[in-house]
Amino acid sequence: MADLNALFREHIQIRESSASEVLSKTGYDCLVISSGRPFTYFADDNDAPFHTVPHFNHWCPLGGAHHFLIIRPGRKVSLYRYSPEDFWYEQKPLGDPFWTPFFDIKEFSNLETLKESLKDFGKVAYIGNELDFLSDKDWAMNPEPITKHLDWTRSFKSNYEIHCILEAEKLGASGHRASREAFLSGASELEIHHAFVRAVGCTDDDLPYTTIVALNEKGATLHYHGKRAEIHKGSVLLLDAGAKWNGYASDITRTHVSPSCHERFQSLLKGMEKIQQDLCQSLKPGMHYADFHHDAHVRIGQLLVEQNLLNCSMDEAHTKGYTMPFFPHGLGHHLGLQVHDVAGKQLTPQGDAAPQPSAHPYLRTTRKIEEGHVFTVEPGLYFIPMLLRKYRDNGGANIFNWKLIDELTPLGGIRIEDNVLITKSGHRNLTREHLPN
Ligand code: GLY
Ligand code: MN
Ligand code: MN
Repeated sequence: MADLNALFREHIQIRESSASEVLSKTGYDCLVISSGRPFTYFADDNDAPFHTVPHFNHWCPLGGAHHFLIIRPGRKVSLYRYSPEDFWYEQKPLGDPFWTPFFDIKEFSNLETLKESLKDFGKVAYIGNELDFLSDKDWAMNPEPITKHLDWTRSFKSNYEIHCILEAEKLGASGHRASREAFLSGASELEIHHAFVRAVGCTDDDLPYTTIVALNEKGATLHYHGKRAEIHKGSVLLLDAGAKWNGYASDITRTHVSPSCHERFQSLLKGMEKIQQDLCQSLKPGMHYADFHHDAHVRIGQLLVEQNLLNCSMDEAHTKGYTMPFFPHGLGHHLGLQVHDVAGKQLTPQGDAAPQPSAHPYLRTTRKIEEGHVFTVEPGLYFIPMLLRKYRDNGGANIFNWKLIDELTPLGGIRIEDNVLITKSGHRNLTREHLPN
């Protein structure tokens, strides 16, 4: 059983020393981070589900709007907690969670009173989205030297954060197991989605991202968000769904087939499962993510040639770009408090950008791979008519096996996605520990 208190102590100590360093370098006395304001829909009085400012959650797992953290070098972090009396919306009591000993907590039932107390902090750098509310403060609002530094530090996960992500993997894995069973018993997309959230034990609002529950051809729409209730007994399920624990996300994809699914598609799935696992096995610090992504194209090209979808050499499959319409997204992205976590393209703590490979504009991670990074490895192979059309119309006639492509297009595609932690000498697959297949 993990000692959350000890893990959190270490996590906060890292945050405090890193904040002290950047405050002193940039000449600020104090860092104020707020949990954020709700987003109200246009011409409406309904709010979107509340998402806490991730920088706030990096310091404190407390949920809800308008809380403020006051961080000053050498002092215990203050938490000004907004806890109004309210009969419209539930205001959960603070209780006694594991993290409270690390903060000086003051409660405020009135927001204006809270704001008036935000004073005498010296030169303040503020991080958050409550700019209108704070417009009378002479604070530096989201100054880049600070936000870039905070983003950078978020890409190196502490042991506490790894623990949170592992818990999110465990929850996500239970959702995936239940969904697979539902699929194999002929369930619709909507029913599979319900099986997922029931097993995770949450509502849709608690998910880190909208589930992608794609039967058959819908797997070729990368971020398909429909939930068809009328289609049952799919041949293929592409399920991209994760869970959250203390603000941290898992992001897991599995592709399943029914026993009667087209044999070639089943072979492609086996091939992609091997590619995904081989890619994970190759991971170690010092590699560049862009090279890793390129390696995925090489391997997918080989599979496409082996499986008779491309009639060219294995070299040509990737050098001539024939893999591009089959695998049009990036191999992965950093993961943490946000599903597409920050700093994947950052080269330095100051915010210099890593070069974007011109051939891969959708790659979200372009930096060197280092110990402590957590990111996804999610190769895909899809039959996307819109992307294949260009090759069908222009000279690709003899290279692409259109007969087979047309047979497989109704089956959508394949994606397999795990979340990995980079260790000193290799990697740890956080997803497979809870979802081996
Ligand atoms: N779940 C979205 C993604 O894999 O990036
Ligand atoms: Mn992902
Ligand atoms: Mn995903």
